[in-house]
Amino acid sequence: MTALSPKPQSLIPVIAIDGPSASGKGTVAQLVATELGFHYLDSGALYRIVALASQQQKIAWSDAAAVALCAKSLLIAFEHEQIFLNHQDVTNDIRTEAIGKGASQVAVHASLRQALIEIQHGFCKAPGLVADGRDMGTVIFPNAQLKVFLTATTEVRASRRYQQLINKKQAANYDDILQDLLERDARDQNRASSPLIMADDGVLLETDNLTIFQAVRFVLEKYQRFI
Ligand code: C5P
Repeated sequence: MTALSPKPQSLIPVIAIDGPSASGKGTVAQLVATELGFHYLDSGALYRIVALASQQQKIAWSDAAAVALCAKSLLIAFEHEQIFLNHQDVTNDIRTEAIGKGASQVAVHASLRQALIEIQHGFCKAPGLVADGRDMGTVIFPNAQLKVFLTATTEVRASRRYQQLINKKQAANYDDILQDLLERDARDQNRASSPLIMADDGVLLETDNLTIFQAVRFVLEKYQRFI
């Protein structure tokens, strides 16, 4: 599937939660991590940080070599709810729709994905890790104890994203959001390097008709069976 070569993992338990944009996996992953007292990796934030840093340095998101080089020079720190890039708080800056789009464009570069492997493995610490992204179970943590593929229909995801923006009092247009999600899904699923795909040994979780708490309970119950 990919030329990337992650290190073999230790015995530290890992729950990998992968899925498409706006599926709610971030919220579910964070709640599962809190419930278990595990560390949490928001791998999408790394791609967003690289998109932001590239933009700040006037590097085109399509320039694979320059984007990967840029990523290697970054000082990234996750502190509680805040995310720092070169000591600057970028927690909100990386959450815009434009940077999300940029993240999905830089994420197609195999050289960038390779450059981000070590930092992702660094999150795997006792007592355990919940990792959320697109390739957590397939590429970054292939030995994860539990691999969940969390998804919902595009329409439900678009409605959720729309509601989130409205709640934050930001401008939102349902049709634009739907179109953007379709484009991002296509880019994530069709790229050559670490495409968004359910792991062969993954468990599918469709959340169209589930509340966040039902989804969290599903993951926790599955995990209990593995330990
Ligand atoms: O999860 P989030 O929407 O923050 O991710 C932003 C973008 O980063 C995604 O659209 C995807 O293209 C990319 N990504 C990725 N691999 C990951 C996490 C995110 O390619 N593990």
